[in-house]
Amino acid sequence: MTVKLYRNARIFTPLDAGHPLRGKEQGRIEEYRRGAILAVNGLIEAIGEENKVLGSLSAYSVNEERDMEGACIIPGFVDPHTHMCFAKRREDEFKMRLDGLPYLEILKRGGGILSSVKAVQSVTEEELFCSTKKLVMAALAKGTTTVEIKSGYGLDLELEMKMLSVIRRISKETPLDVVPTFMGAHAVPAEYKANPDNFVDLIINEMLPKVKGQGIAEFCDVFCEEGVFSVDQSRKILKAAKGLGFEMKIHADEVHDLGGAGLAAELGVRSAEHLLAASEENLRAMGKAGSIAVLLPATAYSLKKPYARGREMIDWDVPVALATDCNPGSCFCESVPFIFGLGVMNMDMTIEEALAASTLNAAYAVSRQQKVGSLEPGKQADFLVLDGETPTALAYHAGNTSVLEVHKLAERVA
Ligand code: NIG
Ligand code: FE
Repeated sequence: MTVKLYRNARIFTPLDAGHPLRGKEQGRIEEYRRGAILAVNGLIEAIGEENKVLGSLSAYSVNEERDMEGACIIPGFVDPHTHMCFAKRREDEFKMRLDGLPYLEILKRGGGILSSVKAVQSVTEEELFCSTKKLVMAALAKGTTTVEIKSGYGLDLELEMKMLSVIRRISKETPLDVVPTFMGAHAVPAEYKANPDNFVDLIINEMLPKVKGQGIAEFCDVFCEEGVFSVDQSRKILKAAKGLGFEMKIHADEVHDLGGAGLAAELGVRSAEHLLAASEENLRAMGKAGSIAVLLPATAYSLKKPYARGREMIDWDVPVALATDCNPGSCFCESVPFIFGLGVMNMDMTIEEALAASTLNAAYAVSRQQKVGSLEPGKQADFLVLDGETPTALAYHAGNTSVLEVHKLAERVA
């Protein structure tokens, strides 16, 4: 048994009430001014004000004790939406976008997601593993201790499996907890352009059952967007996925208000992502259905689009989470501290709301709330030591991660 005691720390954490935090709840953060964490075999045994935690100590002989000298501790970040498994960067496209070519136009011309498919095709599984691992470890150093990673640069069974195998290896060979998502419905391959419904059928009849059979993905995600998958096609795919036992996610209303958020509400998906163009009516319906809005402000930044209405969504009682969307196209950013800053500065979220959004609500968005997302007894001792007095430092020290130390299961990993 390994027993570790961290004392004399200023600890900030949301508290898990058994559901994602929404409305006024999202801004409620517990603070232990002179706090302590007692971790047994990587799990939190006790946490709170130091005098109380010390009171519960008699049952244990402590192997390691650390005086944190008043340092600020928060839960490890959960990044609930990434496309970190890719083979090549698309810096040239970024320049094209800066010169005025729209993101969806690049895809229409066979670039964008489709160029990343060619790249995944052209590298070995080992090469794909190495590039993915490098990015995941960079995210870990910036405080991400749990990460969701999507497939979706394969678009056929073999290549999707190649990606999902790499994602599984990342989960085994890095300190992070990894949540795997199947996203065969990320774009329509060129050969199906004339008959996209045939590709939808292929996903439903062949890919989904095989992926499920391998037990290699937990979530199914669809890019519901003009020129990609319609609301009807997305509904078909997600219903089939749900029938097989996948949890559902949807890229909704990123560029156009197609009604993806309305579909999210109708199906009661776990989370709907992007939502830059979503209507108030559909967002409110999502909140009622219990779906989480996963907002990706670094994508709005990188696409030079107006930000999603994070402030309003919280006021409309929609639980909000933050994620990087880290991918080679619309947003090359693995830094949760950066999106935290954008959430506060450009979406008018409070520090407390942004903290809940990047920890507990993000954990709910990937169904990991029982293990991570807040610092409470029974959960993993995944925490960050910040360079600053409070989590405000994350937004205050612009362009800096403010993350000094990363601990996973009570082990220092970065
Ligand atoms: O979430 N919008 C669709 N998928 C990603 C971008 C993927 C890419 O451009 O490679 C996103 O923004
Ligand atoms: Fe995405």
